Amino acid sequence: MSETISGWQLGEWLEKAKADCLALGISIHEVDWFLQELSHLDRLALRLQTFKQQPSVSLQVPWSEFTQLWQRRLTERIPVQYLVGVAHWRHFTLKVSPAVLIPRPETELIIDLAKSAVENPDSEGIWVDLGTGSGAIALGLADCFPHATIHAVDTSLDALAIAQYNAQTTGFADRIQFHHGSWWQPLEGLQGQLTGMVSNPPYIPSGLIPTLQPEVAQHEPTLALDGGDDGLDCIRYLVETAPRYLRSGGVWIVEMMAGQGEAVAELLQAQGGYSGIKIMSDLAGFDRFVMAYLK
Ligand SMILES: C[S@@+](CC[C@H](N)C(=O)[O-])C[C@H]1O[C@@H](n2cnc3c(N)ncnc32)[C@H](O)[C@@H]1O
Repeated sequence: MSETISGWQLGEWLEKAKADCLALGISIHEVDWFLQELSHLDRLALRLQTFKQQPSVSLQVPWSEFTQLWQRRLTERIPVQYLVGVAHWRHFTLKVSPAVLIPRPETELIIDLAKSAVENPDSEGIWVDLGTGSGAIALGLADCFPHATIHAVDTSLDALAIAQYNAQTTGFADRIQFHHGSWWQPLEGLQGQLTGMVSNPPYIPSGLIPTLQPEVAQHEPTLALDGGDDGLDCIRYLVETAPRYLRSGGVWIVEMMAGQGEAVAELLQAQGGYSGIKIMSDLAGFDRFVMAYLK
């Protein structure tokens, strides 16, 4: 059911919503995202505020629901992406729910790193995305390696359902095989065959989680965040186990928390099976990814 509202009234709401954001330390851009997702207004109309002169603006939901949803953003600190049910990541529009981590802008770079790690992105090969969540990384890999087979694994069935939905809506359903299980467990048959393993595993130290902003600590799945006492439980496991699955020269890439780079590089070094270990930064300059090759 959709509804219309006068441009003037919507403009009044917009000003108030931005003031509320400023008071609560929420980015005012979120108001525009929210409005864009729940109306037919585009970015330009929002930037120039031309809609204010329109006698009516159509909304995707009734006005009462629209204002209630925004109220939940402010009072319950629910991330705007969960409220509107979508997140934008690379050039994809992805369905999200509280069953999946909201894919982050900094993670977008992991796809470019994977691409830069191989000589010929057009060659065939097998890539895995371990802990796929919304499916974002698997989709990015399928997009940038057009002849590769992609496997995506998650231990959460609810997350996998969302990832599969996203693969369908983006046209990659026939390129990605989804598996339910823990890390490599559903991929036993691929030992020694992988061109690359890409993962954004849970890496937040357990004790830090309650200190994160409420949007994350109270609403994103703990299963997607909690990396154990030092945050490195999953990464340590992936360092130890990946050599059984990668082919010689295969690439290992993980995202981690800023500040974990040296520790992850040391784990890879100590394992002994990797070469070309590199710590890489995100666009904000924080160490965010580690890449290595199986000898
Ligand atoms: C940080 S989220 C990353 C989600 C997505 N790849 C992204 O970058 O937005 C980590 C994901 O790992 C999954 N996960 C946690 N433990 C796992 C395990 N033992 N095996 C497979 N996946 C696991 C979680 O369910 C979650 O979807």
